[in-house]
Amino acid sequence: MKNQEIKFKREGYSVIIGENVINTLPKKIKILCPKTKKIALIIDKKIPKKFKENLKKKLKGYNLLFLSFTANEKNKSITTINYYLKILLSKNFNRTDLIISIGGGITGDVVGFVASIFKRGINFINIPSTLLAQVDSAIGGKTGVNTSYGKNLIGSFYQPKLVLSDTSLINSLPKKEMICGYAEILKHSIIKDKKFFIWLKKNTQSILAKKSKQLIYAIKRSCEIKMFFVEKDVNEKNMRMVLNFGHTFAHAIEVKNNYSKKITHGEAVLSGMILATRLSVIRKICSLNVLKQILNIYLQNNLAYTIKKYSRQVEIDKLIPYLKNDKKNNDDKINFILLKNIGKTALPNKSKISVKSLKKLSKIISQY
Ligand SMILES: NC(=O)c1ccc[n+]([C@@H]2O[C@H](COP(=O)([O-])OP(=O)(O)OC[C@H]3O[C@@H](n4cnc5c(N)ncnc54)[C@H](O)[C@@H]3O)[C@@H](O)[C@H]2O)c1
Repeated sequence: MKNQEIKFKREGYSVIIGENVINTLPKKIKILCPKTKKIALIIDKKIPKKFKENLKKKLKGYNLLFLSFTANEKNKSITTINYYLKILLSKNFNRTDLIISIGGGITGDVVGFVASIFKRGINFINIPSTLLAQVDSAIGGKTGVNTSYGKNLIGSFYQPKLVLSDTSLINSLPKKEMICGYAEILKHSIIKDKKFFIWLKKNTQSILAKKSKQLIYAIKRSCEIKMFFVEKDVNEKNMRMVLNFGHTFAHAIEVKNNYSKKITHGEAVLSGMILATRLSVIRKICSLNVLKQILNIYLQNNLAYTIKKYSRQVEIDKLIPYLKNDKKNNDDKINFILLKNIGKTALPNKSKISVKSLKKLSKIISQY
């Protein structure tokens, strides 16, 4: 499949998706950052060496600074930001120079934040290297770091000059990281696009098997859907919340498990989407058939293990205290994004449920 380009006019940048799309980088830099002389490339340590060597060759006309990064939530911190800022200052980088991030969501969030505050904003190009980053985190302009008070609490909104999603980077990605990206792809189809959901029914196996053609289409459609919601709600007051479908439960699952590696974010999202759909059925805004259709995709692709635990009332009850702390809550009720049909959610802030009612419902939720 040939390279795909999505132009986000309002934000002023494009996402280019394709196998070996990295080859277009020199030409793009010339057009988008014509005054650039120095380029800092902050690169996830797990990116294969040959990718780095290829970049070195392609950008040989520039003064290059390669900096490596160990991607984990602990290093997504202000200390790391300071470390990179000091290096850039000591090497006399200007705003007309360029910073490139090559890595997953953690690397992109950190490097994007550095770019946004370095001399009040330096050119930034994002080369996302995980499926999750290609379908989700590299789009929408959020950057930031964690603090001891919680995840992603310090940050900025900052748009890149370009996002290059090279599907050849996905080849080295472990299966559990593939599932993380896939969970967001599936979410995008469920909240906005029934046709895409039907396409996923047929093509999930190819996506998980890293087939380039299917990956390119799934990434493209996901980026378009995410951007649809982001553009409707730049300040994250309302419609952008739809993107949190399944994430209220997922967040509770992750916090309850202390963000342990035993359950990844993607697996928590897969569990969360089923729990939110069951809740939608119980509240009579969604049919049982919709739940069955979603469950079928899990069953056909060996993903049903993510929901097994939550067929027990006691496990759902254990999540309730953590649901209360979700950032979408603006009173003492829990603010869910519920589903009406495949491709359509209920409006944000219209499905608030008290802890007391949820405790009464947990038995029924576990029985679906
Ligand atoms: N900014 C946003 O809008 C947004 C949205 C969603 C998630 N996020 C953030 O994204 C982060 C999660 O992103 P992620 O899942 O990409 O995590 P990540 O960046 O930690 O990458 C996952 C793992 O894959 C490795 N890796 C990266 N690229 C690889 C490759 N090509 N081959 C082999 N291994 C590779 C990394 O080293 C890491 O171990 C979280 O911190 C989350 O808060 C941000």
